[in-house]
Amino acid sequence: MVFPLVRNKMKKDGYTYHGIPKNLPEHVAIIMDGNGRWAKKRLLPRSAGHRAGVEALRNIIRMSSHIGVKYLTLYAFSTENWKRPKDEVNVLMNLLVEFLYNEIEELDKENVRITFMGEISRFPDKCVTAIEYALERTGGNTGLVVCIALNYGSRLEIQNAVKKIAELYKEDKISLDSINDELISSCLDTSHMPDPDLIIRTSGEQRLSNFMLYQASYSEFYFTDVHWPDFGNEAYARALNEFAARKRRYGDVK
Ligand code: IPE
Ligand code: IPE
Ligand code: MG
Repeated sequence: MVFPLVRNKMKKDGYTYHGIPKNLPEHVAIIMDGNGRWAKKRLLPRSAGHRAGVEALRNIIRMSSHIGVKYLTLYAFSTENWKRPKDEVNVLMNLLVEFLYNEIEELDKENVRITFMGEISRFPDKCVTAIEYALERTGGNTGLVVCIALNYGSRLEIQNAVKKIAELYKEDKISLDSINDELISSCLDTSHMPDPDLIIRTSGEQRLSNFMLYQASYSEFYFTDVHWPDFGNEAYARALNEFAARKRRYGDVK
C-alpha cells in the first residue's frame, strides 16, 4: 500500500525536507542492499555501486539528524560478506576508512555520535585505527547516535552473549533467575540503544540476512525495490510515512 506523503515541510541548516511525519521512529535500522545491482544496471563495476552507496549513506545520516531520529543503525558488512571476492572486500574496507576520515569533522559538528557493532578485530589495522578515531572524536556527542554494523552477524552476537552470561554464572555473579530480557539485551552489541522501531531493507529482498534477530522482535519492516544508492530523501520520507501509519500492538488488542 502506498501512503500519500504528509504535507509537512521542514527546514534545517539550509536543507528542506518534505513530508516528514510527526511520530518518527526513535531507532531506524537499515539493511543497505543493492549497490551491486545499481552498478550492473549502469554497466559499471560493483565498486562504483559501493561508492555511490556511500553518498546515499552520507545523505541519510544528515537527514536523520536534521529531522530528529535518535538512533540510526546501518548494516555495512555482514559476517557472511567475507565470502565475497577479496578485491570487493578491499574496496569496502577502503571506502569505510575514507568515509570515516572525510566525514568525521562534519558529523562531529552536527553533534552525531558514531558507534559500531560487530567483531571489528578481524579488520585490517587501518580500519581499526579509523574506527577508534571516530569513536574517540565523537564519543562525547549527544545528538543522533549512528551505529555502523561491521563484520556483524546476529548469530555470532547471540553466541557471544550466551558465552558472557555463562561466564557470569560460572563465576557466581548471577543466578539462573537473573537471566532475563534485560540481561540478554545488555550483553548484545546494541546495549547502547533501544530496539529498532523500523527496519528498512532496500533493493527488493525480503529477508534479514542475519541482522538483529533478537532486537527485531517488535520492529516494523519496510521493504522497497529502490537500490541503496538511489535511496534519497523522498524514499526515506515514504518509509517514515508508512511507519507512522502502522498500528503497533505488541500482542495487545488496542
Ligand atoms: C549492499 O549491496 C552492500 C553490502 C552488502 C556491503 P550489495 O553489494 O549486496 O549489492 P547487491 O545485493 O549485490 O546488488
Ligand atoms: C546484507 O546484504 C548485508 C548488508 C547489507 C551489509 P547481502 O547482500 O549480503 O545479503 P544477501 O546475501 O542477499 O542475503
Ligand atoms: Mg546484496
